[in-house]
Amino acid sequence: MRKKIVAGNWKMNLNFEDGQKLTSEIVNILKDENDKKVTVVLNPPFVHLYPVKKLIGDTPNLFLGSQNCSDKSSGAYTGEVSAAMLVSFGAEYVIIGHSERREYFKESNQLLTAKTRQALENGLIPIFCCGEPLDIREAGTHEAYVKAQLTESLFGFTEEEISKVVIAYEPIWAIGTGKTASSEQAQEMHAALRNHFASKYGQNVADNLSILYGGSCNPGNAKEIFSKADVDGGLIGGASLKSRDFVEIVKSF
Ligand code: PGA
Repeated sequence: MRKKIVAGNWKMNLNFEDGQKLTSEIVNILKDENDKKVTVVLNPPFVHLYPVKKLIGDTPNLFLGSQNCSDKSSGAYTGEVSAAMLVSFGAEYVIIGHSERREYFKESNQLLTAKTRQALENGLIPIFCCGEPLDIREAGTHEAYVKAQLTESLFGFTEEEISKVVIAYEPIWAIGTGKTASSEQAQEMHAALRNHFASKYGQNVADNLSILYGGSCNPGNAKEIFSKADVDGGLIGGASLKSRDFVEIVKSF
């Protein structure tokens, strides 16, 4: 069964106290108000993982994720954090290939394959991001562009492995800009991506794949976007830093 998922991506925001406060508020509201059983994932910076996990405790349907992991398993890689470490701190998800990582840290499709492999081998669920920049959208080649990102990074995985992956479609021009894709644009791309997976892995795998939308999702537009047949939730940046907004988005299903 395809899961409905709302994941918060804190990015490089919030110090210790603010992270604790935000998590406590989310836990308090969600334990009473997640009646649709949406899978909710908090993806704070590495240093918050352990304290956030403690606050999450056994809150139903609330999970811990990371924003990144290393493509290596262990060893002399100063500053890196392995998938195995994340698991040992209670993480169950990891965002891979966010456009900010692709752009500012030059993460290639090939590197993202290695990161996805690390995640899967260690039992983490990858939230694999894809999405086109504005010039590609304007040139009308966005579908081919995003499909190529997925083919190059993911199509070497087996059917069983792909069945564990979550996809996040995030048009770069909509991230942090206040400009969302219309629900029709999101639906069109999500359906195209689902077909792309169906052509490689079969309809059944594609039908069970959760495909999230990301890019200026907020309590005002989430309901409309999530109402589309192929949109299974959202990856939320800015609005995940405000407990009420984030929970309103969770409740938009
Ligand atoms: P945004 O970020 O919601 O602030 O646009 C989304 C993301 O980058 O995951």
